[in-house]
Amino acid sequence: MVRRDPAIGVATVRAWARELPSGGAVLDLGCGNGVPISQVLIEDGFVVYGVDAAPAMTAAFHERFPRAHIACETVEDSDYFGRVFDGVAWGLLFLLSADAQAALVRRVASALKPGGRFLFTAPEQACTWTDMLTGRQSISLGAKVYRATLVLEQAWPLSRVC
Ligand SMILES: C[S@@+](CC[C@H](N)C(=O)[O-])C[C@H]1O[C@@H](n2cnc3c(N)ncnc32)[C@H](O)[C@@H]1O
Repeated sequence: MVRRDPAIGVATVRAWARELPSGGAVLDLGCGNGVPISQVLIEDGFVVYGVDAAPAMTAAFHERFPRAHIACETVEDSDYFGRVFDGVAWGLLFLLSADAQAALVRRVASALKPGGRFLFTAPEQACTWTDMLTGRQSISLGAKVYRATLVLEQAWPLSRVC
């Protein structure tokens, strides 16, 4: 079984979160068991709301962080707790189809407060690969397409993209 190195991404999440309001609300999409992204955010005083489609992952998340909010549902079907957030971190954007990525970026934009920030990782160049953790086909639309998708959302100036 492949395990994720929990040190990977910690510095990036911390640097990103420093731009958020202290104690703000963050949505962690594809949160898995919460390590390390939700964990870092909780340690740094943010209120975390996790969404993951895998029951075993959300159960592990709840056991580890009983006071955090967690929903076992797909990001496509989630209502994102019916609220808005200071930041949204995606652990799974690259696992979705190209069409689903573009559509969801637009949908999740409505769950972000004005001035809110968005964090995701994907290779700079458009490409496909197999995600080591899930074994699933992964797709990067490439930085140019992601930027264009975000700019199309007038409410999302590039300065909000990390
Ligand atoms: C690559 S893992 C990332 C987990 C964690 N955020 C991390 O950084 O280690 C992707 C996670 O997304 C979840 N996932 C995949 N497709 C999903 C979907 N359509 N809706 C919700 N969760 C999904 C998987 O169950 C898995 O826990």
